[in-house]
Amino acid sequence: MKVAITGSSGLIGTALAASLRADGHQVVRLVRRPPRGPDEVRWDPRAADAGDPAVDGAGACVHLAGAGVGDHRWTRRYKAEIRASRVLATRALATALAARPKGQGPRVLIAASAIGWYGDTGGREVAEDAPAGKGFLARVVQDWEAAADPARQAGIRVAHLRSGLVLGKGGGVLARLAMPARFGLLPRFGDGSQVMSWISLTDQIRAIRFLLEADGASGSFNLTAPNPVTNSELTAALHKAFGRPDFSWLRVPEPVLRLGLGEMSSELLTSARVLPARLAQAGFVFEYPKVAAALTAELKR
Ligand SMILES: NC(=O)c1ccc[n+]([C@@H]2O[C@H](COP(=O)([O-])OP(=O)(O)OC[C@H]3O[C@@H](n4cnc5c(N)ncnc54)[C@H](OP(=O)(O)O)[C@@H]3O)[C@@H](O)[C@H]2O)c1
Repeated sequence: MKVAITGSSGLIGTALAASLRADGHQVVRLVRRPPRGPDEVRWDPRAADAGDPAVDGAGACVHLAGAGVGDHRWTRRYKAEIRASRVLATRALATALAARPKGQGPRVLIAASAIGWYGDTGGREVAEDAPAGKGFLARVVQDWEAAADPARQAGIRVAHLRSGLVLGKGGGVLARLAMPARFGLLPRFGDGSQVMSWISLTDQIRAIRFLLEADGASGSFNLTAPNPVTNSELTAALHKAFGRPDFSWLRVPEPVLRLGLGEMSSELLTSARVLPARLAQAGFVFEYPKVAAALTAELKR
C-alpha cells in the first residue's frame, strides 16, 4: 500500500515510516520544507495542498503533524501555534483529501489525537465513550478531531489516535525523563499520585498499522496500554530500568512546577486513567501491556 504521512520526521512518524517500509509498503512524506527526494512532497499545513499528484494512489494518509506540546512554555502565542498546527492543518488536509477525484485519494485517514480529550479525570477509569474534559488541551483535542469532518463527510474512513504518553527512546517524554533517571535523579512530580496513561512506541506503531488495515474501524481509539501507572510508579520503574535506586522523597512540589513551567505543568500533573476499550474490542493485543517490560524494551532500541 502507498501511505502518505504528515509529521513524518517526528518520534512516531519516523518509526511508522520505517515499519511500513520494512514490510514493503511505499511511504510518501508530506514535508513542510523543500522535498529532498522522490518520496517527499511539499505541503503547507495551513493551505494543505494534498492535491499533489504524488498523493494519488495512496491508499491511506496518516496525519501526525503538530507543534510539540511539551517543547516550549505555553505562552499565549505558543498555545495559538499548538492549536492552529492541529486544528487548521487537519481541516485543510481533510478538505483537500475530500476534494480528490473519486478513486484517486486515500480511502483512510488516520489522524493523531490525544488523551488530553478527557482532561483531568482524577484517576477515574475512562474509555472512549467518556465526555470531553475541561481545559486548554481538552478543547484543542475536541476541535482537532472535529476538523477531520470534511474527510468523514466525503466517505473517507477516519480513525483518531487518542494516544497517551508515547514511550520511545528517540524523543518525546521518555527522552526527557531518561536524562535524570539515568543518574537516579528523576523526581516525582507533585505528590506522584497522578495517573499517567502511556503506550510503548512499539505498540503505538502496531496499533496505527492495525487501524490502517482494520476495515470499518472508524472514530476515536484510545492508544494507551491496559495498565496505566501513577507518576510515582513510572519514576520507580524508570530508575529500576537504569539499575538505579529510587528515592521516593525526591519530589518537585506542585507549586514549584506550576511556577517553573506555567500552564504546561498540567502535562505532568494531570491524572487520567485511560483504557483502550475500543482497541481491545477490535482484537488488538498489546506487546507491552506492563510498563516495566515496555521501558526495558524501548530503552534498549
Ligand atoms: N509523543 C507523544 O507522547 C504523543 C502523545 C499524544 C499525542 N501525540 C500526537 O501525535 C502526533 C505525533 O507525535 P510525535 O511525538 O511524533 O510528535 P513530534 O515528534 O513532535 O513530531 C511532530 C511533527 O510534526 C511536524 N511539526 C512540528 N511543528 C509543526 C507545526 N508548527 N506545524 C505543523 N507541523 C509541525 C514536524 O514534522 P515535519 O517537520 O516533518 O513536518 C514534527 O516532526 C502529534 O500530533 C502529537 O500531538 C503524541
